[in-house]
Amino acid sequence: MKKVLVARAVFPEVLEALRAHFEVESNRDDTVWSKSQLIERLQGKAGVFATGSERIDAEVLAACPGLEAVCNMAVGYNNIDVAACTARGIVVTNTPDVLTETTADFGFALMMAAARRMAESERYLRRGEWLKWHYDQFMSPDVHGTTLGILGMGRIGQAIARRGALGFGMGVIYHNRTRLPADKEAAVHARYVDKATLLREADHLVLVVPYSPASHHAIGAAELAQMKPTATLTNIARGGVVDDAALAAALKERRIAAAGLDVFEGEPRVDPALLEVPNVVLTPHIASSSVRTRRAMADLAADNLIAALGCGSRAGRPPTPVNAEALAAR
Ligand code: GLV
Repeated sequence: MKKVLVARAVFPEVLEALRAHFEVESNRDDTVWSKSQLIERLQGKAGVFATGSERIDAEVLAACPGLEAVCNMAVGYNNIDVAACTARGIVVTNTPDVLTETTADFGFALMMAAARRMAESERYLRRGEWLKWHYDQFMSPDVHGTTLGILGMGRIGQAIARRGALGFGMGVIYHNRTRLPADKEAAVHARYVDKATLLREADHLVLVVPYSPASHHAIGAAELAQMKPTATLTNIARGGVVDDAALAAALKERRIAAAGLDVFEGEPRVDPALLEVPNVVLTPHIASSSVRTRRAMADLAADNLIAALGCGSRAGRPPTPVNAEALAAR
């Protein structure tokens, strides 16, 4: 039996499914291991069930020569050096599709909460400051009928576009590295624009772009300066896509109206300046966290690991590989 490491706590049923095929070492305490602790536990393991929190970089790979598969329980995989995995013939997998609609729901909710000042007004109520109705209390920008801007137009971006266009009568504009084919654009009622137009015209800008060196600080001081003072910014992509310090300054000075953030640079640390400003809704990276979706993600990551290590009915054909080249080279 091959040995695998489950790097974080996960559903007991998923551990059981893995135990049918492997000798499993699991992180029952859900400790966040240092790199050297991770390397130590990966010794002798053929595969790892990881989450977005484990950095599987070239140094880890070099120190763990027995590794054949790295299976992420996340759609994003910027925590993994995919090129280094491919060079070593290590299969990398992620969990697309199963989380698209749940994540889009959350992104839309976060955008609405930021735009309609829900967290800010709730804190005011909890502080006991609500003493009377007032005509301009917590007035905010509208959501319906405004312009929704989307940066990144993969599956989740498209699901958000549909919500905006069909549910809220929004005009939808987007910018992406590659433009969608016309039929897909029509299906999500979205119009392609350049980034400057996106920043200038969006009333509500939602970020759904994967993190890479190219998208690092895609929204920084210069980009925030191009946005409308009434606009909101929502980040459900990755910390690092936004320059959090620049955003905190823009929120403080009301250069944009509000923000909703589910991801942070260096999370779980949150820039203290963001904690000081009232016009931001902060959530702890939970966009995909519905009961059904988190279970589906864990099941898919396990199915990938089982198949990538040559077991089960899909042996050798993991459902959602990131680097199909590594499989082809086997
Ligand atoms: C969550 O951030 C994911 O990438 O699945």
